Amino acid sequence: MSHHLPADASAITIPRLQQRVRDGQRLVMTTAYDAVTARLVDPVVDMILVGDSVCNVCLGFDNTLPVSMAMMNHHLEAIARARPRSLLVADMPYLSYHLSLDDTLCNAGGFLQRGAAAVKLEGGEKRVETIQALVECEIPVMGHLGLTPQSVHAMGGFKVQSRGVHDAVQILEDAHRLQEAGCCALVLEGIPSELAARITHTLRIPTIGIGAGPHCSGQVLVLHDVLGLSQGHRPKFVRSYVDGFGLLQQALTHWAEDVRRGAFPSPAEAYALPAEARAAVSAWTPDPSTRS
Ligand code: KIV
Repeated sequence: MSHHLPADASAITIPRLQQRVRDGQRLVMTTAYDAVTARLVDPVVDMILVGDSVCNVCLGFDNTLPVSMAMMNHHLEAIARARPRSLLVADMPYLSYHLSLDDTLCNAGGFLQRGAAAVKLEGGEKRVETIQALVECEIPVMGHLGLTPQSVHAMGGFKVQSRGVHDAVQILEDAHRLQEAGCCALVLEGIPSELAARITHTLRIPTIGIGAGPHCSGQVLVLHDVLGLSQGHRPKFVRSYVDGFGLLQQALTHWAEDVRRGAFPSPAEAYALPAEARAAVSAWTPDPSTRS
């Protein structure tokens, strides 16, 4: 288990992020799932989310429901070993905060012991008690409202939420309840822009939008979506800045071609045997008795 604490002055903390928002800066968050992606994103973003999206983005599942605490801990530990300066937020997976408060506190506290600075969990009013208990135990909590992927079956699919009068007012009330419960920030996913703007402008804590328009305090996108590494359906709120999948596959194809035509490795990419050993190796012949 690593004990990564922000050791240097450049480490991004929750109070620093909240101050940046008060200073009019927009926050940037993306996901990372291992040490390599953590090192890639860390110099660029303010927050790294060890998302439960690891389940569908990296592990091949259709949604986020199958990912376990053990799997999340495995990914979080890899990221913590990269010692990011960005605020490290770990997603509480499905069933890790639904069963009992003891269970929830152990799971969330375990994330902090592994290097996370905050946990994220999905849901509104019904999570208030859980959030209060976590905050009591010095565990910073980021809420997540709107299209909450762990509710995929209850929502009947991944659909834009809160378009009706009742639901729009409900999410406003939920956002304020989560703020009062002690959340340090809120992710708003898949809701109309005007609603996200109203939530953002009436809260003291930052909002991080994904498919929630431009008026949030910051934005989050899944790393593999930004880099064009994701396959299949792409929602309209995703902007890919590079065809990462195509580019990387092209590079891999060049290497495979070089191997097949004998152009890789070159002499400069190989190790030479010292003259004395070369002579011994050339002089050596197989022992006929050991031959089958
Ligand atoms: O798991 C995840 O990647 C997320 C973001 C989409 C906010 O929860």
